[in-house]
Amino acid sequence: MDATSLVAAAIAARAHAYAPYSRFRVGAALLLADGRVVTGVNVENASYGLAVCAERNAVAAAVLAGLKPGDLRAVAVAADSDGPVSPCGACRQVLAEFAPPGAPVHLHNVRDGSTVEHSIAELLPHAFLRDRLP
Ligand code: THU
Repeated sequence: MDATSLVAAAIAARAHAYAPYSRFRVGAALLLADGRVVTGVNVENASYGLAVCAERNAVAAAVLAGLKPGDLRAVAVAADSDGPVSPCGACRQVLAEFAPPGAPVHLHNVRDGSTVEHSIAELLPHAFLRDRLP
């Protein structure tokens, strides 16, 4: 699966985002080691602080589908923003739990059609990982 196809999956998922409060709709697509693609969207709530980002909802769905640490091979995120969408710190940490440091994260802006790529390690250097636990 190439980056363009993964980004297309994130764009398609984004249509299902539940974001009536921020109106900032986000779609995420995860490429698993076995080739499957799992998607997620942001889901907001009348109790605003309970919103969950697209990336973390995608990871939850992927874990249900069998995702194990190290098997998250690539990520795509799609949103409509002034610049490239930038995953929040919580999502960077959750992605780093499952993706190798070099895994690409494709950040797509549906407004201008641009996509920028960063590795997991670029997004979250010095991640706290489970090998740091006693
Ligand atoms: N959001 C995401 O889903 N992913 C990101 O990378 C950044 C922010 C969501 C959370 C909330 O529903 C909305 O965007 C505004 O913060």
